[in-house]
Amino acid sequence: MDDNTLKSNIEIVGLGHYLPKRIVSNTDLEKIVDTTDEWIFTRTGIKERRIRDKNEKNSDLAIKAAQEALENAQMNPEDLDLIIVTTVTPDSHFPSVACIVQKALQAKKAAAFDISAACAGFVYGIVTAKQFISGGLYKNALVIASDTFTDLLNWNDRSTCVLFGDGAGACVLKSVEGKEDCGMMAEYLHAQGEYGKLLSVESHMREPLDQNAKNIALSYVVMQGKELFKVAVNSMAQAVEIILKKANLTLEDIDCVVPHQANNRIISGIAKKLGVSKDKFFINIEKYGNMSAASIVVALYEAVEQKRIQKGDIVVLVTFGAGLVSAATVVKW
Ligand code: UT7
Repeated sequence: MDDNTLKSNIEIVGLGHYLPKRIVSNTDLEKIVDTTDEWIFTRTGIKERRIRDKNEKNSDLAIKAAQEALENAQMNPEDLDLIIVTTVTPDSHFPSVACIVQKALQAKKAAAFDISAACAGFVYGIVTAKQFISGGLYKNALVIASDTFTDLLNWNDRSTCVLFGDGAGACVLKSVEGKEDCGMMAEYLHAQGEYGKLLSVESHMREPLDQNAKNIALSYVVMQGKELFKVAVNSMAQAVEIILKKANLTLEDIDCVVPHQANNRIISGIAKKLGVSKDKFFINIEKYGNMSAASIVVALYEAVEQKRIQKGDIVVLVTFGAGLVSAATVVKW
């Protein structure tokens, strides 16, 4: 045997997802806010979204997605080394969602922590997990992207409340020995803090040493949609170009691009800017809206399920989110 051809690669060995049962259509939203199905669909591509049940917490979504990913990876929770949850809507300041998941799965030996990178969270999460595995500290990791983003919405603000939905997705990453190059081939993480105000949810500060603190009002998502749109198209198109260069590939080599699902017109803009057919992009925004970090992993799950992604395909995951942050990775499936 020629040992030089043996390579250890970090691969996605199991995917999972969970979507709350409650479907809220554009027509349903017409009844509560001044909007129309026609406006929402033509401006964004969204038809409906999922909204969590009253008793469902972010961690409940995360646990269900994780259980499916572990089942598909044929892996026992007790063998997990690391759990990363990427979210901007945790159940609580602490404990982390990752620790809540660790307890529920009884993944007794796993380290666990959360990452906050908004809609770019899943790619930030798998790239982080990859470093732990390739560095030799751990052999595997469970990465979950879970958000109940609708909790942050002002349901009187039509410019934001029609865009988002709730959901979760998960994957198991593992170091796999094989003869072929496969798995995560290249990564790119980027941040542009100067655009932070384009999409934010403020935290209300308490007065220092205030013994009479009253209940603090909730804050909502504030967004400058038009400006964000332009930065989104530019950052994601640039991320694809950078990642391909890093992986020594060209646009022609890509079989499928799985982009963040924020707006169908943003995806058209990226395709146009790159000069590639939109057919290369997997799009499921119609059914779920923007599920923050969960969008890209749920889309990846469905692309694999629908055989849009097959063994050996070159897949690009590209995303951006509040921060602003953007990220991309190339995976040989
Ligand atoms: O994960 C990242 C998160 N978010 C994004 O990436 C969002 C990026 N931005 C976008 O997707 C788009 O900018 C939006 C979908 C948010 C808005 O689309 P737009 O084409 O930029 O519309 P606009 O904000 O310029 O608004 C156009 C018109 C306005 O009316 P007037 O001033 O022209 O009379 C708005 O008031 O559409 C109106 N409008 C609506 N009408 C019906 C805004 N929201 C709605 C609505 N229903 N829901």
